[in-house]
Amino acid sequence: MDRLLNGKAVVVTGAGRGLGEAFAVHAAQAGAAVVVNDLDADLAERTAANIREHGGRAVASGHSVADPEQAQAMVELCVAEFGAIDGLVSNAGVNYEALPWQEEPDQIRELVETNVLGVIYTGMAAAKAMMAQGRGGSIVNISSGASLGQRKLATYAASKGAVASLTYSWALDMEDVGIRVNAVCPLAHTRMVWKSERSLRNCPPDRTPSRIAPVVLFLLGDGSHGITGQLIRCNGPQLHIVGQPYLKAPILERAVWDSDSVQRAFDEVFSAHLEPYGLEKRVPPRLRKWTEGASTPLRSA
Ligand SMILES: NC(=O)c1ccc[n+]([C@@H]2O[C@H](COP(=O)([O-])OP(=O)(O)OC[C@H]3O[C@@H](n4cnc5c(N)ncnc54)[C@H](O)[C@@H]3O)[C@@H](O)[C@H]2O)c1
Repeated sequence: MDRLLNGKAVVVTGAGRGLGEAFAVHAAQAGAAVVVNDLDADLAERTAANIREHGGRAVASGHSVADPEQAQAMVELCVAEFGAIDGLVSNAGVNYEALPWQEEPDQIRELVETNVLGVIYTGMAAAKAMMAQGRGGSIVNISSGASLGQRKLATYAASKGAVASLTYSWALDMEDVGIRVNAVCPLAHTRMVWKSERSLRNCPPDRTPSRIAPVVLFLLGDGSHGITGQLIRCNGPQLHIVGQPYLKAPILERAVWDSDSVQRAFDEVFSAHLEPYGLEKRVPPRLRKWTEGASTPLRSA
C-alpha cells in the first residue's frame, strides 16, 4: 500500500461525499490521520467510520467552513486528536447555475461564504497552527476550470477565481515559513455534476473522484517539495498546469491617457491583441472577423 502520508495529520473539508470523501479515504490509505469534515455531520461520520473500519485513523467534524469560529475549531480538533496539522484540503463547496438576471442574493451569499470565505477561514486557522508547530505544511485548495469563465456559472466561477488568487497570494506569504499552497481544478462525476446536463456531457461516470485523489495526495506529501503557488488541473485522463494571468505586452506608456488616446490605443494597437475569453476561448467580436474561417486557405479574388 502507498504510505506517502505516513505520520501526517490532515483536514479534508466537505469530505462526507464526492471528491472530499475520496481525498479523505485515499489520504488515510496513504497513512495520514484525517479529520473528515462535512456540514452534513452524518456523512462526515460515515466516511470517518469507513476509514476506521479499514484500519485507518479518522475523526469526524460537522463544522461549517463558512463560520470562522467553526473553521478554527476544526483545526483545533485535528491538533487535539492527532497532535498536529500537516495538511489541509479546502474542498467544501457549493454551486448552482443561473444567468445574471436570475441570480438570488441569498444564494450568492451562501456560495461566496462557503467557497471563498470558507477557504480563507479554514486556511488561516490551519496556517496559524502550522506556524506555531514550526515544521511547515501543505494547503491544497480546490478551485475549478470554471474560474476561467463559464456560461451560467458566473458566481461560482468568480468564487473559484478568488480561490486561485488566494492560492498565488498565500504561496507568496507562506513560502518563508515552509507552508506550500497549491490549488487543484478537478473534474469528476459527483452530485455537483449530476445537477447539470452540460457537466454530465463533459463528465462520464468513469471519471470517478478517486482518479483525482493521487494529485491531491502528491501535493500533500513531501514529494512535492518546492512546488507552491500552482494551479493544477486533472479531469481524469488529462493532468496539466493552468497558466496564470499576466501583464500582456505591448504595454503602452504616455504621461496621461485621455479619451482620444484610449480610443486610438484600441483602434490602432489593442484590437489585434484582444484575448479569447472564457474556458471556451471565445474570440471577441472585434477580432472575430479576422479569425472566422482562418483554418480555410485564403483565396485570391
Ligand atoms: N465535481 C466536479 O467535477 C468539480 C469540478 C470543479 C471543482 N469542483 C469542486 O470540488 C469540490 C468538491 O465538489 P464535489 O463535486 O465533490 O461536490 P459535492 O456536492 O458532492 O460535495 C461537497 C461537500 O461539501 C459539503 N459542504 C458544503 N458546504 C459546506 C460547509 N459550509 N462546511 C463544510 N462542508 C460543506 C457538502 O455537504 C458536500 O458533502 C467543490 O469545491 C467543487 O466546487 C468539483
